[in-house]
Amino acid sequence: MTALTLSTAGAATLRADALVVGVAKGPKGPVVAPGAEAVDTAFDGRLAAVLDALGASGSEGETTKLPAPAGLKVPVVLAVGLGPAPEQDESFDEEALRRAAGAAARALHGSKKAAFALPLEDASAVTAVAEGALLGAYAFTTYQGGEKKASAAAKNGGPKRPLAEVVLLGGKPRDKEHKAAVERAAVVASEVNTARDLINTPPNDLTPAAFAAVATATGKEHGLKVQVLDEKALLKGGYGGIMGVGKGSENPPRLVKIAYTHPEAEKHLAFVGKGITYDSGGISLKPAGHNETMKCDMSGAAAVFAAVVAVARLGLPVNVTGWLALAENMPSGSATRPGDVLRMYSGKTVEVLNTDAEGRLVLGDALTKASEENPDAIVDVATLTGAMVLALGNRTFGIMANDDAFRTSIHEIAEEVGEASWPMPLPADLRKGMDSPTADIANMGERMGGGLVAGLFLQEFVGEGITWAHLDIAGPAFHEGAPYGYTPKGGTGSAVRTLVRLAERTATGDLG
Ligand code: BES
Ligand code: MN
Ligand code: ZN
Repeated sequence: MTALTLSTAGAATLRADALVVGVAKGPKGPVVAPGAEAVDTAFDGRLAAVLDALGASGSEGETTKLPAPAGLKVPVVLAVGLGPAPEQDESFDEEALRRAAGAAARALHGSKKAAFALPLEDASAVTAVAEGALLGAYAFTTYQGGEKKASAAAKNGGPKRPLAEVVLLGGKPRDKEHKAAVERAAVVASEVNTARDLINTPPNDLTPAAFAAVATATGKEHGLKVQVLDEKALLKGGYGGIMGVGKGSENPPRLVKIAYTHPEAEKHLAFVGKGITYDSGGISLKPAGHNETMKCDMSGAAAVFAAVVAVARLGLPVNVTGWLALAENMPSGSATRPGDVLRMYSGKTVEVLNTDAEGRLVLGDALTKASEENPDAIVDVATLTGAMVLALGNRTFGIMANDDAFRTSIHEIAEEVGEASWPMPLPADLRKGMDSPTADIANMGERMGGGLVAGLFLQEFVGEGITWAHLDIAGPAFHEGAPYGYTPKGGTGSAVRTLVRLAERTATGDLG
């Protein structure tokens, strides 16, 4: 990943391939943001006027490349829009900084080293800019370039490499808080990028067993305890939900437990992730046009895995157990049929009316298993329903919970880290739509409010008295539009930052 350091060097003295400055949108045109004073001086105080003349306004996401004037040790100045200038005495919004840093890093794909002279008023601004730069400097190029890779690819307009080195100017490298802010940002961003890599890896390579192998290897590296249940163990253990979904595939399912413990921990969190490495729909096959991006259906498990590793790397004093419910949902002669009844790990029976409602089946088993350890709270993360995408769009995840205060806390935490989310209800009246004449419950209910129906289904598998929240990230998990801010095309790493922040807050006993 991109290397990031804090430097006391002046903007006019540092050698780099580009120098990034911030520009805000003022009432009368672009305004140069704090941090760029020396750069403005090199432009004879005319940087805002130059940008204005070029049509730049300082709006969010706008990037303008300028040839650097004499007096700077860089060939290029990149002005990045921060959006509306803050009121007097107010500082820039953290998310505005994160997005601007991300947009700048993206605009500099192909360059080696860039210095960022963005406003760094305090440690949280340092975290935001560092995270934004590291998340924006992401590219998934594993499958590009072919034989000619490194040498010819770059010349032929092949994949450009992301920025190799970012230097943040204007921070305080010797200040404890600033140092910690950069270290935290580096860990969080690298784990968000790990989640993105897993999501982007095509499903022929990222099978349940392959994902489990990654978890085992990475877990070892960071001193985590990893246990993998393979298909034999799952069958023997009575995991009817995970087996029922996975049995149509040549690539058998796995349940992975990845546990981090800290000697001073007072609380225990369990994170549960939906890990469908490919969702074809099964016998209730998805029509063409609905399955091209379904490698993203393990985004919940990727987020959980990445968050547990981040918590371990940060050494937080809280115990966190991740559960990855991994299966491939495929149609075949051995696949579960619509009409089959599965016996879940909890003992409950489920009539499968639609094999495409598979996420709740694998999660049901994992939620029951996670509940056995009686954690202080369980949070599951899943690309669970198209209905949630219809309700909240492509950038916002829904939060459901069996505890209003916990749901509110998660909503606030997500907001704090710059992840869009919205609280959703679990209306009890939707439960009867899942009544089955044959089994204890059906895996489908009313079409209206389908995201909430799925949440109600999951709730039945959460242990008595355990605080639980469900994040439906079907919208934001995978980005199909043009990149923006620090969000690339493809896997986004949605929910990783929220889970890490939840662990931090739980560790400090500072949970709303
Ligand atoms: N993985 C899908 C949900 C999804 C949709 C994720 C769009 C990402 C983007 C899930 O397994 C699914 O197929 N859900 C069905 C449930 C229905 C059959 C009750 C859906 O939402 O249509
Ligand atoms: Mn499905
Ligand atoms: Zn699915």
